[in-house]
Amino acid sequence: MSYTSFNPPVRTLMGPGPSDVHPRVLTAMARPTIGHLDPAFIAMMEEIKALLQYAFQTSNALTIPISAPASAGMEACFVNLIEPGEKVVVCMNGVFGERMKENIERARGVPVMVEDSWGTPVDPNKLEDALRAHRDARIVAFVQAETSTGVQSDARKLTEIAHHHDCLTIVDAVTSLGGSPLKVDEWGLDAVYSCSQKCLSCVPGLSPVTFSNRAVEKIKKRKTKVQSWFFDLNLVMGYWGSGKRVYHHTAPINLLYGLHEALAMLQEEGLENSWARHRHQHLALRSGIEAMGLSLLVHESARLPQLNAIVVPEGVDEAVLRSRLLNEYNLEIGAGMGSLAGKIVRIGLMGYGANMKNVMYCLEALEAVLADMHAPILTGVAMNAAQSAAVLN
Ligand SMILES: Cc1ncc(COP(=O)(O)O)c(C=O)c1O
Repeated sequence: MSYTSFNPPVRTLMGPGPSDVHPRVLTAMARPTIGHLDPAFIAMMEEIKALLQYAFQTSNALTIPISAPASAGMEACFVNLIEPGEKVVVCMNGVFGERMKENIERARGVPVMVEDSWGTPVDPNKLEDALRAHRDARIVAFVQAETSTGVQSDARKLTEIAHHHDCLTIVDAVTSLGGSPLKVDEWGLDAVYSCSQKCLSCVPGLSPVTFSNRAVEKIKKRKTKVQSWFFDLNLVMGYWGSGKRVYHHTAPINLLYGLHEALAMLQEEGLENSWARHRHQHLALRSGIEAMGLSLLVHESARLPQLNAIVVPEGVDEAVLRSRLLNEYNLEIGAGMGSLAGKIVRIGLMGYGANMKNVMYCLEALEAVLADMHAPILTGVAMNAAQSAAVLN
């Protein structure tokens, strides 16, 4: 058997991520690879840190990309902040809260669960009750933007409650960074992790993280060694810190060129303009979806603009719907996960992909396939509704 180059099909990526990558990012990644301790590369690393501080809205010195996907950023937060036997209150309202629990257990912490049903935000009152019942807890973990359901929780409020009970917060901002408001310093978030492949229009493989001074102090005062060598931030900082660089691992050089380009583009657009663009496209998509007679899973007050969970109409096999969209339209949308599998599909409007062309293309393809599957929808109205909403907003 002989193999030749892999040429992927050209898709429109409107699932939960990765999202469409901006051509400028791909071009940046094709630039010549240089050494990871080359002075030119180190200068670019400093720019990445400054650009990430802007994206996270923070002045935290420990703001860097972990060289691996967001699951690694998640793990880095948990293994550095938890000492064996420590209680961590974890708010769970979807798949990624569940993963936090798993991380806590593996870091030999003791999770205390605050559960809300999938499709609803974390209830601050339940967090308050849990912290009153577990006064020895010192960490609260929650997902700001639950990609599995399209729900956004109030990160500012949850952090306020956590701090009132002398707890640090670990916040999953994988789907929010760049796409909807995330204000690390103003809201006082302590350890936040995100990804490169959703609202930043970059390729997967990097996890931006940021840690407050309080969190760094806790890490420095640990009584036990961080159980993971790769994620031990005391060591990682030797490479990403501002003093003399010490080799830790070989950075993914060209991936970092891509992240630099993506963050520079975010700065050019302006963070608030990017949040507004995501919201604008979401409102257009929502109008089209509702005009067809379909409904969104999440109540308007907690909807994430960049992740739209659509309830699958009666009698429609969503796996067939998704595979027809992929095969006939080169359009990728996401399936429901866990208890929502088969009941919803997830349409992402993230980063470069949050544009009117994608909104219209998705509505057109969805309507054509659903009509062909004899779904009970209204045809011929979605595009106009989306267009009118786009003009209004
Ligand atoms: C909210 C959330 N957390 C964590 C992850 C894990 O990210 P990754 O797949 O980059 O490891 C995802 C992935 O989609 C996510 O949506």
